Amino acid sequence: MRALAERWRSGRRRVRIIQGIGASVKFSKLTPHCGVEISGLDLASPLDDGTIRELENALAANGVLFFRDQTMTPDQQKALGRCFGELHLHPAYPDILDGHPEIMVIRADANSKHVAGEDWHSDVSCDEEPPLGTILHMHTVPPVGGDTLFASMYAAYAALSKPIRDMIDGMTAVHDGENFYRGRYGQGGDKAAVYPRAEHPVVITHPVSGRRALYVNRFFTTRIVQLSRRESDGLLGLLFSHIETPEFQCRFRWRTGSVAFWDNRCVQHHAMWDYFPERRYGLRVTIKGQKPVFRPDVRAATAG
Ligand code: SIN
Repeated sequence: MRALAERWRSGRRRVRIIQGIGASVKFSKLTPHCGVEISGLDLASPLDDGTIRELENALAANGVLFFRDQTMTPDQQKALGRCFGELHLHPAYPDILDGHPEIMVIRADANSKHVAGEDWHSDVSCDEEPPLGTILHMHTVPPVGGDTLFASMYAAYAALSKPIRDMIDGMTAVHDGENFYRGRYGQGGDKAAVYPRAEHPVVITHPVSGRRALYVNRFFTTRIVQLSRRESDGLLGLLFSHIETPEFQCRFRWRTGSVAFWDNRCVQHHAMWDYFPERRYGLRVTIKGQKPVFRPDVRAATAG
């Protein structure tokens, strides 16, 4: 009941009863390691505490939740995000929905030079407290293409050989916004902009599942702190290509009204831009997270 009272006080969505997910809600896994499609839930309606908790657990277990045929206003999408935490404000992204600083516009068309998320990454891992998760609601899809790929970082960690796992457990790496944002969003813009930079464990312990996940990515991770530059470049190169192994992945084909809710702590994603010059348009909210930690004392039963 305390969680319920706190939710009322913190202005999150109103909750009338605690009941959990009903029998009409169905879960269907996309692949063994990554992604589950959930039907029978209307994300525009208030979710009760039990349902929120089940979605949090499903997210931590599967890395990404998919929903179809959802209709949500920007305010309803923000209210949905606030069920899982405070909303995050992006430190660099230029295309923000008018009147909604928490909503990023994800768009591509015949005039686009880039699209958001074109290579494997975890959102804003350069923040000291990187986002817990991201909810993308797709409004317009190209006739074909524009899928998003997701990869399980639990599976990536578990598939490494033991000597490599033993070596990287406890190491830390620098994640630098400068590495990606300056070239992408800083050109012709604010030369004095300062982007976030943080040091995080190379392997993190997921705060909900207790499982270990690989936590380095091509956008932001520039250096493993405990290694020489040459050793760090070699090891990061190995880990970045390992992360892209197809067996760790699922691939989501969007339709108008589809929603993906991904967990930035245990999946990376890659948005395919194979549909130029067609149009794709969606709205994204991002949920604040905590400082990632590695807990050598915690090894969940399902961890690799
Ligand atoms: C992103 O990284 O937020 C973009 C994902 C997508 O457009 O599929």
